[in-house]
Parts: sequence; C-alpha cells; structure tokens
Amino acid sequence: MTEIRFLDGDAARAWLDDLCEVLADCVNDGASVSFMLPYGVEDARPYWLEVADAAGRGDTLLAVAIVEGRVVGTVQVGIKQAPNQPHRGDVKKLLVRRSARGLGLSRLLMDAAEAEAAKCGKTLLVLDTATGSPAEAIYPRFGWVRVGVVPDYALYPDGRFCGTTFFYKRIGPVAA
Ligand SMILES: CC(C)(COP(=O)(O)OP(=O)(O)OC[C@H]1O[C@@H](n2cnc3c(N)ncnc32)[C@H](O)[C@@H]1OP(=O)(O)O)[C@@H](O)C(=O)NCCC(=O)NCCS
Repeated sequence: MTEIRFLDGDAARAWLDDLCEVLADCVNDGASVSFMLPYGVEDARPYWLEVADAAGRGDTLLAVAIVEGRVVGTVQVGIKQAPNQPHRGDVKKLLVRRSARGLGLSRLLMDAAEAEAAKCGKTLLVLDTATGSPAEAIYPRFGWVRVGVVPDYALYPDGRFCGTTFFYKRIGPVAA
C-alpha cells in the first residue's frame, strides 16, 4: 500500500534514515540535486535536519511516499517567500529511490504537493531541473510549462557541467 503523508519537523526527524537513503540513492544515480560525489547516507543527515527544521517552522511543506513502511520518495515546496511574492511556492527535491521508480509515485507526490500548496494560498509554483534528465521529461506530463534553459547552471555529482531547465505551473487564479 502506498501512502502520501506530510511531515512536520518531529516526523521528519523520525524518518531521517529513510530520507537520507532516498537522497543518497538519487545522488549516486547521477541526479543533479545540489550534492557531489562521493555522497553516502551519512552525508545526507545535515541536509535533512535543516529541512526538518524548516518543516517545523512551517517554511517548507515536506511530503513523503511511504511504501511497505519505508519512505521511498519525497518532494518539498518552499512556502516562505519574500513579501512581494507571497503567492509563489518553490518545488524542490522530487526524489524517488531507484527501487521504487516507475510506480507513479512522483505523480502522487506532485499532486499532493500542489494541493497542499494551494491550501496554503499559493497560486503559482516554480521549479528547475537538470536539462536532459528523466525529470525534465516528466514535468510537462504533470501540466508544467517549460520556460527555458540556462546552460552550465550546475554540476552533475561527478563534476560535469549540467544545464538547468526552468518550469512553472499555475495552481490558482492570477492574483489581482
Ligand atoms: C524523476 C523521478 C522523481 C520520477 O519518479 P517516478 O516515481 O519513477 O515517476 P512516475 O512513476 O511517477 O512517472 C511519472 C510519469 O513520468 C513517466 N516517466 C517515468 N520515468 C520516465 C522517464 N525516464 N522518461 C520519460 N517519462 C518517464 C511515467 O510514465 C509517468 O507518466 P504518466 O503518469 O503520464 O503515466 C525519479 O526518476 C527520480 O527520483 N530521479 C532522480 C532525482 C531527480 O532527478 N529528481 C528531479 C529533481 S528536480
């Protein structure tokens, strides 16, 4: 059975080991998601502890996909924004571990994240992802609009340059 759940700070710390495994698995698979090789499960702990703090403050929505009692996928929406952008949310770190891919988990996570962001008053979401990655092909299927590419924006975990594609999605009416 698959469950999508939103975690507060304490719950995120309780699922810390699984969250670290998901992130380390994706980095070691070559995903350009902020971190460089070598990257082990323990390396992911400081990052997730920061995310747990942000979730605890209500600055970040943290969704996880739980399958057979393990967190195998996750996504975040940055809720806290500058005063002139209260309607915008930043989607980040959509991650599904290799053993759980192709099961529709990313769609479930993104649907839940968008619905929760809308409940928080967000009407516009933005994200960016590595150009040429599987994720880049997936977002248009979820209704996201491709804006364009910045070449050499980031690095792959092995140090090669990587372009970044920017997307947006309206999830509510344009604010007056
Ligand atoms: C991108 C990622 C999250 C997809 O997760 P997933 O759970 O396997 O994706 P799903 O099974 O939900 O598939 C979603 C849709 O994309 C399609 N899809 C899946 N893998 C695909 C691929 N490699 N290429 C093209 N389409 C693909 C599916 O058919 C599905 O379409 P549908 O819902 O219209 O049938 C996963 O590959 C991943 O974690 N990658 C590494 C981390 C990463 O790059 N994240 C993006 C950061 S911005």
